[in-house]
Amino acid sequence: MARLKVEHLTFSFGYKTILEDISFEIDEGEVVSVVGPSGGGKTTLLRLCAGLLDRQEGTIENSFKTQAIAFQDARLLPWKNVLDNIAFGLKAQGVSKKERIKRAKEIALKFDLEEDDFEKFPKELSGGMSQRVSFARALVTKPELLFLDEPFSALDIGLKRELQNHLIELIDKKEITIFFITHDLMEAVKLSDKIFVLEPDPGRIVKTFTIDIPQSKRDDSYVYSETAKLLQDPYIIETFELE
Ligand SMILES: Nc1ncnc2c1ncn2[C@@H]1O[C@H](COP(=O)(O)OP(=O)(O)O)[C@@H](O)[C@H]1O
Ligand SMILES: [Mg+2]
Repeated sequence: MARLKVEHLTFSFGYKTILEDISFEIDEGEVVSVVGPSGGGKTTLLRLCAGLLDRQEGTIENSFKTQAIAFQDARLLPWKNVLDNIAFGLKAQGVSKKERIKRAKEIALKFDLEEDDFEKFPKELSGGMSQRVSFARALVTKPELLFLDEPFSALDIGLKRELQNHLIELIDKKEITIFFITHDLMEAVKLSDKIFVLEPDPGRIVKTFTIDIPQSKRDDSYVYSETAKLLQDPYIIETFELE
């Protein structure tokens, strides 16, 4: 079974220790989120795990064969149109041009982009459309491991819900493993099997919550009430400075 295993990870920018002695494991099929306040080191942890930042102390073992990332901002290639942006990752996998365009179109339609939008360039897209493209681009390659860095933060509640439901469908079918970074507890409760609380200065995992109910069975009232419970937790109160 594939997994991401992090042991005794410590990381500094200059003299400032950002992460201290972080250890955890994400097994195939799990959705694990890291919650904590802004500036606490969440993005740094994700970048280390995704191999975008060089490790200093500790070890990271990643046995997933394929991975993809979506960020808060869509980060599309400005010189490529919607379809080519989505198809971009398939090229690296050696998929033929015809098949790339076919698969890009299929997933674009699934993410509610319209045929009229396919030829548009990123500067012609709204923020919401850009994020649809960003999700389509991340998922078109069917990555085993998906890294998400606050991808819903800038979206209205309708689009947020729609994109989350796409993920829940994949999670339900056990087709994906997700490492999810967010400062939004409600999102974490909606999507995660496990929630790690990252207390800042320096970043340490101080608590783990586990949620056993399948994501597809978590309705709004469940998510609200579980979030309300978390907000009473002493570690959450301390980490987010709620008092
Ligand atoms: N490239 C960098 N160089 C120096 N400091 C950085 C860099 N990236 C992030 N930091 C600092 O590391 C800390 C953690 O940042 P980050 O991982 O982005 O936190 P979060 O994602 O939880 O908001 C912050 O104090 C931030 O200013
Ligand atoms: Mg961040």
